Amino acid sequence: MTIIKNIFAGIKKHKIPFILGFLAAVAFYFIVDAAMKPFSTSQYCGTNCHEMNTAYLSWELSVHGANSHGLQTQCIDCHLPPKSEYINHLVSKGLTGIKDSYVHHFGGEYDVEAIKKEVVEHFPSKRCLRCHNNLLGKPGSPGARTAHISAINDADKEGTRCVDCHENVGHERHSKLFSE
Ligand code: HEC
Ligand code: HEC
Ligand code: HEC
Repeated sequence: MTIIKNIFAGIKKHKIPFILGFLAAVAFYFIVDAAMKPFSTSQYCGTNCHEMNTAYLSWELSVHGANSHGLQTQCIDCHLPPKSEYINHLVSKGLTGIKDSYVHHFGGEYDVEAIKKEVVEHFPSKRCLRCHNNLLGKPGSPGARTAHISAINDADKEGTRCVDCHENVGHERHSKLFSE
């Protein structure tokens, strides 16, 4: 209790610096957010370097790029931690950016199949569950229901992760566009 009292006494004594510090923190948040915006669109992520070409085109054709409800899921919704985990989101965005740009400049040939495998191996189900948060509450086939009960109870166990069964939901790879 005395610690809290001391903190409040400190704030009272240094009112102006405290308010300025607080405002600076708020301003910093909005500036970082605004600065990041142009680099967070699917257009930016998907069209800026040739490595992303198949990912972008196959996303546009997938159920998350275009569907009958006119709802679109963006690259960052699936490939980064959500913005509600702000620090996690920022750090992942930074690290992914650095890694991607390193591979772009110094990496060898871009191997879609190898990277795809790596993405699948590390894809957390909670990214999907953030939106698909009522899988058991809707009518569906009994098979899907059983699968989804284990997918929810055993999220991230191999075999019951969302992408183990729904690998192609983010990228429609069966299109003629991608068969050579
Ligand atoms: C619904 C979730 C989802 C969305 C939205 C999504 N992805 Fe993916 N992405 C995945 C999954 C799952 C994989 C691994 C399976 C696969 O490659 O099909 C993947 C694989 C990838 C890969 C590695 C394979 C490759 O094609 O090179 C890249 C790069 C990628 N995504 C980029 C993007 C970009 C860029 C966007 C937006 C234009 C996007 N993703 C949108 C889920 C998603
Ligand atoms: C940002 C929200 C969001 C995220 C994240 C997301 N989805 Fe979706 N998903 C949607 C929307 C919106 C639709 C389209 C609904 C429709 O048109 O029926 C959809 C459609 C689907 C469908 C097709 C449903 C059908 O009726 O054909 C499947 C399967 C699916 N998502 C699985 C996944 C999986 C697996 C992940 C994680 C890799 C994921 N989704 C991530 C929002 C999301
Ligand atoms: C063991 C396999 C399996 C796992 C794991 C799995 N699903 Fe499914 N899912 C199915 C089957 C089977 C269907 C019904 C057939 C279809 O539409 O493809 C289905 C259908 C769906 C649909 C379409 C709506 C419906 O019920 O028909 C969505 C959305 C979906 N799954 C999301 C997810 C999400 C999100 C996860 C991870 C939490 C997940 N699934 C994990 C097998 C699975």
